[in-house]
Amino acid sequence: MDAADAAIGEDYKNVTRRNALMPPLAPAADPAAAPGRRYAITTFGCQMNKADSERMAGILEAMGYRHEEDELAADLVIYNTCSIRDNAEQKVYSYLGRQARRKRHNPRLTLVVAGCVAQQEGESLLRRVPELDLVMGPQHANRLGSLLEQVESGHQVVATGEHQILEDVTRPRRESRVTAWINVIYGCNERCTYCVVPATRGREQSRTPQAIRSEIETLARQGYREITLLGQNIDAYGRDLPGITPSGRRRHTLTDLLHFIHDVEGIARIRFATSHPRYFTERLIAACAELPKVCEHFHIPFQSGDDQVLRHMARGYTVDRYRRIIRTIRRHMPEAAISADAIVGFPGETEAQFHNTMALVEEIGFDQLNTAAYSPRPHTPAATWTDQVPEPVKVERLRRLNTCVERCARRCNQRYAQQVVEVLVEGRNPKDPDQLMGRTRTNRLVFLPAGSHGPGDLVSVRIEAVRPFSLSGCSLIGSRTV
Ligand code: SAH
Ligand code: SF4
Ligand code: F3S
Repeated sequence: MDAADAAIGEDYKNVTRRNALMPPLAPAADPAAAPGRRYAITTFGCQMNKADSERMAGILEAMGYRHEEDELAADLVIYNTCSIRDNAEQKVYSYLGRQARRKRHNPRLTLVVAGCVAQQEGESLLRRVPELDLVMGPQHANRLGSLLEQVESGHQVVATGEHQILEDVTRPRRESRVTAWINVIYGCNERCTYCVVPATRGREQSRTPQAIRSEIETLARQGYREITLLGQNIDAYGRDLPGITPSGRRRHTLTDLLHFIHDVEGIARIRFATSHPRYFTERLIAACAELPKVCEHFHIPFQSGDDQVLRHMARGYTVDRYRRIIRTIRRHMPEAAISADAIVGFPGETEAQFHNTMALVEEIGFDQLNTAAYSPRPHTPAATWTDQVPEPVKVERLRRLNTCVERCARRCNQRYAQQVVEVLVEGRNPKDPDQLMGRTRTNRLVFLPAGSHGPGDLVSVRIEAVRPFSLSGCSLIGSRTV
């Protein structure tokens, strides 16, 4: 045990120790340089997790790594993990087993677990998979370069301590050339009783409006057309930034941020996610209606259609408040699309309470709904409650809810039949190279024949085929190409 090991205390979660399995690499002229080495990143989680992967890929490319599709051929493998439900967490262990076997024959292979499982499990991951070189929580994504330097000098490293996220100085390697994610607030200060995110992503940390705007300006210069502002609870944006207006309200809110970034030239569309019903204000809705680039799509998870379940979840709103938000959105923007998340089988959920969720889904008519059976998560209050719903009951409720969701989505999509919609072309349909794919302002996926249009074009499309989760159509002659 070396000094760093000895320093591990209750709150000390960063560990560096000599790696018995990996001799140090021969010193290079630039210790951070990795000429000829290839990396692969597999991403398991949400949009924030994907955005972290893009930043980590950017850091690796700046170090000289090249991207490798096949993770079994890469010299450095990162699993960027998710622990929102048990099945997401288990996936990573099976992937890791394969890589651990590879590493036994190839000690130069660098194995990294990043993201929410890394944060949740920390050092115990090293005990479970001794072949790992680096375990790093989401707050450490921007530090990948310096953490790898420690690995390359022959250490096993765990970086899961609470960390002030460094302003991003890297250039992410983005999947898309048209649409980009921008983190605006990291972490979550809520305490929903089922959720691991506050434990895995830490306290809320907002980026400054100036830093966000300057990232958007860079994207616009690179030809990006659409941006999505990201936060686990985006309505909390700015709570941790200083400043009060003369009228006594917070100076930095999501609404103010939308106004501040709206005029960046070249950007045609602005989205944001995820919204929390507790904080979604009428002022924000009015701004979305007023600012032409802000798209008419809102992702506002409701989780349950029953007040008592919502109370047990500690969500901080009632079903009626949720209804009022949707009503207000539709009053300001009648064509708006609404999507959400819902959980079935939360501890204590009765059949009648589940029916309230089904009834709300029918009543609101969601364009899209992500559904999940409740999964007990480590260190969350609800996991310890004794009134867990039996697994078969959860599965059955999920099946019934999904049938209802598909019916609603089909009905919702009918409103597009024969309509002309504006589509931002994102690229080819990976399943059919003769087709392009893009999205409406309301976030509907649209396929159209590949013709004279290309990625980044805004095209007017007449919708000819309507399916529950996508649309197809043809572009109109003389449609707009900006
Ligand atoms: N911050 C967002 C959502 C974050 S997690 C919000 O507050 O709504 C994404 C979704 O995963 C959640 O909306 C919830 O529906 C689901 N989820 C989170 N924890 C879960 C759990 N323990 N079991 C099942 N689903 C869960
Ligand atoms: Fe989890 Fe609740 Fe935070 Fe969303 S708001 S990330 S559900 S704790
Ligand atoms: Fe998963 Fe972490 Fe996102 S738990 S959903 S990757 S915040």
